[in-house]
Amino acid sequence: MANLFSPITIKHVQFANRLAMPPMVRFVGEMSEEVSVTAGRVTPPVVEHYARRVRAGTGTIIVEATAVDATGRVWGNGFNLYADEHIADLALLASGIRSAGGIACIQLVHGGPQSSADLCGGHLLAPSAIPANDKAALPRKLTLAQIRTIQAHFADAAERAVAAGFHAVEIHGAHGYLLDSFLMRQRNHRTDTYGRSAAGRMRMLLETCQLVRERIGEKALIFCRISPFTKRDEGYTLEDLCAVVHGLEASGIDLLHLSTDGAYRGYFDTDKTLGHYCRELTRLPLMIAGGLRTPADAQRLIAENHADFAAVGTAMLRDPEFATHAREALQGG
Ligand SMILES: Cc1cc2nc3c(=O)[nH]c(=O)nc-3n(C[C@H](O)[C@H](O)[C@H](O)COP(=O)(O)O)c2cc1C
Repeated sequence: MANLFSPITIKHVQFANRLAMPPMVRFVGEMSEEVSVTAGRVTPPVVEHYARRVRAGTGTIIVEATAVDATGRVWGNGFNLYADEHIADLALLASGIRSAGGIACIQLVHGGPQSSADLCGGHLLAPSAIPANDKAALPRKLTLAQIRTIQAHFADAAERAVAAGFHAVEIHGAHGYLLDSFLMRQRNHRTDTYGRSAAGRMRMLLETCQLVRERIGEKALIFCRISPFTKRDEGYTLEDLCAVVHGLEASGIDLLHLSTDGAYRGYFDTDKTLGHYCRELTRLPLMIAGGLRTPADAQRLIAENHADFAAVGTAMLRDPEFATHAREALQGG
């Protein structure tokens, strides 16, 4: 039976164990200023922020959401991969993670209606002209040409991530950012082929994953992160989940990353977890994040076969030595 510290291989990539750090932007106030306030640059304290968690024994690091397009920037201190000049900085980070013995993945994002208007030249882009919330600016509806440009920018950024030395890229299809906003009934009122039906709303995400695969081939793994909970209040059904998961599998991704608001909470009015639902829908390796606070929480996720990887966010931010403490607690040192 697998446990948190069992190795696992996906294609040509060998993971030392099942413990991962999920993507977490370096919010000011949540970490020291020297780590968070870097104007998008990779500085030695930032490399250390990630590398020390690998040295403690975390097998996989998913570097925070990184902008694929200048029109989709969300955080002023966030990383960018929308130009070749960004590669050198990210290469420092990939190399810091790799030389500490970790698997290095980087999350790619377009903020869409949740971008920062200040950082994006004054206007936001979205599937429809519907603001992300009461306080957000009114975005402009993307044209078909703009959709294709953004998809190409995801592929360009993935190629740059490969050049920087990452083992994997993660497509951010979660949390209401651009790709997720296409999936959302309340945010996507399009009547063309990128809306109208469940299949139409999925199209942006699936085509983007497919294009990234075509561009980078087998040079790196492709993860895709989705968050079914962001669509709960619009009646997201098991059928919707099934369609997205099957579509992603067909698009050629290598791992499905489920961002949940509770890895052990029941979905679709049952007590069955999202992980157990997805196990029945796909043979893709699964990673799950959400409320894994202790080593025992993470271990249970693997032992009960909810997922292949446990992504521990807040607890690993608070305790960089979480992996060491987990090994001590679960294996007696
Ligand atoms: C400070 C912080 C920054 C985050 N940044 C990202 C991000 O860049 N991309 C993302 O997909 N999720 C992001 N998240 C969500 C986490 O990846 C994770 O899914 C969430 O914190 C739930 O896991 P936890 O309960 O173990 O913290 C962030 C969360 C925190 C606390």
